[in-house]
Amino acid sequence: MSRRISGFTPSGSLHLGNYVGAIRPIIAQQSTTDTVVFVSDLHALTVEHDPAQVRRRTLEFATLLLAAGADPDSCLFLVQSQVPEHAELHYLLECATGYGEAQRMIQFKEKAGRQEHVRMSLLTYPILMAADILLYDTDEVPVGEDQRQHVELARDVATRFNSRYGPTFTVPRAVNPPVAARIMDLTSPGDKMSKSTSGDAGALRLLDSPYVLRRKVMRAVTDDRAEVRYDPALQPGVANLLTVLAACTEGDPAQLAPAFARYGELKTAVADAVIATLGPVRERYLELAAAPDHVRKVLLRGSMQAREQAGRKVAQVKEALGLLAA
Ligand code: TYM
Repeated sequence: MSRRISGFTPSGSLHLGNYVGAIRPIIAQQSTTDTVVFVSDLHALTVEHDPAQVRRRTLEFATLLLAAGADPDSCLFLVQSQVPEHAELHYLLECATGYGEAQRMIQFKEKAGRQEHVRMSLLTYPILMAADILLYDTDEVPVGEDQRQHVELARDVATRFNSRYGPTFTVPRAVNPPVAARIMDLTSPGDKMSKSTSGDAGALRLLDSPYVLRRKVMRAVTDDRAEVRYDPALQPGVANLLTVLAACTEGDPAQLAPAFARYGELKTAVADAVIATLGPVRERYLELAAAPDHVRKVLLRGSMQAREQAGRKVAQVKEALGLLAA
């Protein structure tokens, strides 16, 4: 059976882009495919962070993933830091990755360019992500477009390791959803919708109330062409609204366009579709959030299960690299 994995870093708040780009795709096949869903809390330490907030968000993300349908009886459901083999394999893979390879990562260049004090872990973070993926012999990684380059790195590292030290890793590939791989910010449609708290009006958060979701959609930036067409280059705001509608209704953005004569009609349809998609997730979250100890227990159980598999993989890698057996 093929295996799929997806992770979510508890920085900022989960939004519609995360949902349609990765959460929904990974959960959709959990009963027919070996699936690993995890909160990548170690990744949240790569930039300046507030410890209490990371802990709170780790629980919030896990609760949201459960609310979105992750079923711990059908998939491996865990927190990265509770499975120390992630960090252990990270180091071992650093020994099989070039400095130049890590430095080329677009996300590193973008994030490092915005900061004065760049943490070493920001540079090596894609190698930790490769460890996350390779630890479980993953075939497919459902992610948004922004993570594709990191999955390519995992592919390169796996291929090189296998040819240098003998067959050890499954070589993974990224899978992007057909229309939702890059949902853009509603107020600045040239940028991707992002988890960071700045620019809150541009992101449709999974925990926003229906009222807030509608208000954000109705205020989304369009243009003065007064024509609903799917043209991401000329009409990025309108194209993004059509993409959001298509992602929520599993349609096609270009085919949906002719149904709308005015921007107001399009926005109303988008707001309805977003509320129908995210409303039930938020309601379920509010129920589950009342029992945080239950979520903590579910995570611990999943992490313990994961350690059995992960431990075997790390032992195999150590052996291949020439380390003494424990
Ligand atoms: P993160 O937490 O930034 O994002 C989680 C997932 O959401 C996708 N995504 C989007 N998709 C569509 N439109 C958007 N605007 C948008 N924004 C984000 C991301 O591509 C991602 O799939 N490093 C990863 C987490 C991670 C991981 C892994 C993923 C760690 N290890 C192993 C897969 C496999 C991250 O920070 O994603």
